[in-house]
Amino acid sequence: MNKLKIGNLKLNTNVSLAPMAGITDYVLRSLVRECSPTCLLTTEMISSEALINESKCKKRDMIAENDLIKREKNHSPISYQLTGHKPQLMADAARLIADRADIIDINMGCPVKKVVGGQDGCALMKNPKLAKDIVIAVKEAVNCPVTVKFRLGFTQDEMNFIEYGQQMQEAGADMITLHARTRKQMYSGVADWGKIAQLKKAIDIPVIANGDIKTVEDAAKCLEISEADGVAIGRAAMGDVDLIRRIEHYINSGNILPIPTMEENIQNLKKLLLKEIELRGEDIGVKFSRKFYPFYISGIRNAAKFRAEIVVENDYKKIIKRLDEIIYDKTLLSLS
Ligand SMILES: Cc1cc2nc3c(=O)[nH]c(=O)nc-3n(C[C@H](O)[C@H](O)[C@H](O)COP(=O)(O)O)c2cc1C
Repeated sequence: MNKLKIGNLKLNTNVSLAPMAGITDYVLRSLVRECSPTCLLTTEMISSEALINESKCKKRDMIAENDLIKREKNHSPISYQLTGHKPQLMADAARLIADRADIIDINMGCPVKKVVGGQDGCALMKNPKLAKDIVIAVKEAVNCPVTVKFRLGFTQDEMNFIEYGQQMQEAGADMITLHARTRKQMYSGVADWGKIAQLKKAIDIPVIANGDIKTVEDAAKCLEISEADGVAIGRAAMGDVDLIRRIEHYINSGNILPIPTMEENIQNLKKLLLKEIELRGEDIGVKFSRKFYPFYISGIRNAAKFRAEIVVENDYKKIIKRLDEIIYDKTLLSLS
């Protein structure tokens, strides 16, 4: 399949890391990049309002230290996702990060009450005119491609993803990522990959399929059904930072690589914990990493007990010791 071409930007991949608030931080992006040198990384959503306020308080180069937008040279290609609903303010925010972004993505899919209540995220799907103005303003502000990410619609009865996608294309959006659920569904039910095929047929810009892709086989099935130009991987990357590389390998070669061993997974979890501590300090780094444990520690004997123990542990050395026990005590790997 053809590699992604987003506006004038040619990538050597068809797979992106989906943005996830509190998850796809600098550390997760770095770990995914260690596995895949080519995939499209994405930041979590960044409030354009907060970014502008921060820039007023700090010197411009201080913003680079913010873990939301911090990056390394090898993080390219990387997309920075902005939230907001004020076209000029979003354009200003985009300008602030344009020097580090290969792509600016606009969040039009976040279902969270606080975000939607503020007219941001999925609320924009109820106001296509405003959404168009945002795309136009951001396009005018930056030279890089501008993409949008949205859902099927607000509710089952308001599925406007096709007309909405056409309007975003008209406004100048260079690519669409479609999470094939409605706002009302939040994360429940099953992503409807067939709907992605409908959008793909209705527009000319690339479409990335998103929702419920947990394995290489899922990615293959989703691409077959949706005929999308690529896939975006969200939650599955939380416990498997190598999944994106394996999907890319499948797309490039048709071959399915073996899934990581428990030892490889635990080594990745240890790496994540240590990098979070390096980034945030021991106290916050340990607490921040807790949400990842269920994704890594499962399918072994006493998994629940292990998780319950380390999720309350504040001493990272003790956590590492327990994780090493999983690696070295081979009896734990048998479930019976
Ligand atoms: C914890 C969490 C945070 C998320 N934050 C964002 C976000 O900041 N921006 C966004 O566009 N989508 C966000 N999403 C949605 C994901 O990008 C993705 O669309 C959704 O999880 C479905 O894909 P998946 O089944 O591969 O996880 C978030 C999802 C989760 C679970």
